[in-house]
Amino acid sequence: MAKGSSGSAFPVGGLTFDDIQLVPQYSEVGSRNGEMDLSARFSRNVSLKIPLVSSPMDTVSGGSMLKAMAKLGGIGVGHRFCSIEEAVNMDPNAWESDSAYQWAMAIGVTGDYFDRAIELDRAGVNALVIDIAHGHHDRTKKALAQLKSRITCDIVAGNIATAEGARDLEAWGADGLRVGIGNGSLCTTRIQTGVGIPQVSALIGTVAEATIPIIADGGIRYVGDVAKAVACGAETVMLGSLLSGTKESLGIISRKGSWPNENLYKKYRGSASLDSKMDRGESKNVEGASTLVPYKGKVGRIVYDILDGLRSSMSYTGVKNLQDFYAEARYIKVSFASQKEARPHLLDRQEN
Ligand code: XMP
Repeated sequence: MAKGSSGSAFPVGGLTFDDIQLVPQYSEVGSRNGEMDLSARFSRNVSLKIPLVSSPMDTVSGGSMLKAMAKLGGIGVGHRFCSIEEAVNMDPNAWESDSAYQWAMAIGVTGDYFDRAIELDRAGVNALVIDIAHGHHDRTKKALAQLKSRITCDIVAGNIATAEGARDLEAWGADGLRVGIGNGSLCTTRIQTGVGIPQVSALIGTVAEATIPIIADGGIRYVGDVAKAVACGAETVMLGSLLSGTKESLGIISRKGSWPNENLYKKYRGSASLDSKMDRGESKNVEGASTLVPYKGKVGRIVYDILDGLRSSMSYTGVKNLQDFYAEARYIKVSFASQKEARPHLLDRQEN
């Protein structure tokens, strides 16, 4: 049995969410939906009421998603594949007086990134997120040095997946780290390049090294994965596919079939997909896919489901807040047979 806070880089080999299960523990936490504190830090100076963050993808996070996530107590990270003016207009406070919604915005490390950062900082953004595929890079170091001399808001940097990456980005001035390489639902990085670290191992390695908050980014398919990510020490969890297809996600609804048998969809595409790159006049280094996902309605429904599952998981562990969850959570590595047992399996047996 291994504990999320164990020290070295990859103490238990390459593990991802399906490879582990959380261990039930003695609990005095009565009601699964009782008073539980789900607050967490997004970055050094940005605190949230719930540990959920939306991905800076152009089919997920624009102004509506930013406002919805802020209202729910999390934070949205607006995408960067737009003009600086469009980016500034994603401010969820722009059209409401007296509102104080927290918001974050993605930036790159080339092109107009510095002007973009200055304009967004001026507009009152709470955090900027350096959004590049390989964050453990000299370009991140240079960008952080330049940004830190002019920007007042927090700067989260990524993506990384190793202890060395965490140590360096923190030393270069990052206020938070985004962890996940090759694990996103539309990601083809591991196939195209052979590079990546299974996410549980990436989290354990980076959490052990960092003193700043870590965002577990990508590969969340089930509510239980959110609990596992937090149990491994991530303070927040970034969601792309789970939030895609919602009313508040960017993009239009497409219809297939005709009434009353029509089905509704929205597009979900990787930031490095050909579909997305073509819109930006690029076609090289494609490392992502594009798809249609069924329309899901309001994002609040998805978020409440996740929070219910997380509270339930905390109750099984016997804790009432996320700091204690990380401190107390234990996980066990499971076999392939156990992975099958972990899903509803009665129907498999009936088919055989
Ligand atoms: P999920 O699994 O929630 O993952 O859909 C969202 C995360 O996936 C990453 N992302 C990509 N990774 N190629 C990649 O290798 C891409 O085109 C791509 N687009 C998004 C990103 O970290 C996001 O938050």
